[in-house]
Amino acid sequence: MFKIDSSIKKETIIHEGREFIFLCHTNQICEGNGYQFEFDGDSDKQIALFRIKGNLYCLYNVCPHRHTHLIYKGIINEGEIICPAHGWTYSLETGRNVNPQQGIKSLKKYETIEQNGKIFIEKPLFDIPKWRTGNYSNIIENE
Ligand code: FES
Repeated sequence: MFKIDSSIKKETIIHEGREFIFLCHTNQICEGNGYQFEFDGDSDKQIALFRIKGNLYCLYNVCPHRHTHLIYKGIINEGEIICPAHGWTYSLETGRNVNPQQGIKSLKKYETIEQNGKIFIEKPLFDIPKWRTGNYSNIIENE
């Protein structure tokens, strides 16, 4: 697991008016694997980063089904990621739940930028989870 401390100033870039923060180096992310990043020691502030066929995909790491922190360990299959806990399936590209029979909750997607051997992520904003307060926007419902 990569641990990120938001209180430590990081390299940032501005792209289309949005702030992206340094996440890791390109050579730390291997093809076909998923990686877990945790922010500020909070298990509900996690993202999963994947490199598939050279492309990066970044999603919220907490599955809306039973709130496991396992999306990064999911089974990758033709543009989809299958939660290893009970099989809910999401689009890697959008985070959208692709099987309505599993429910309507999807994963938040985060934009990434890779340049000069570094990977940056759109500065993630994590709300306090619904299971803590009843209001949580990192898990979104399909339209
Ligand atoms: S926790 Fe992901 S499918 Fe159940």
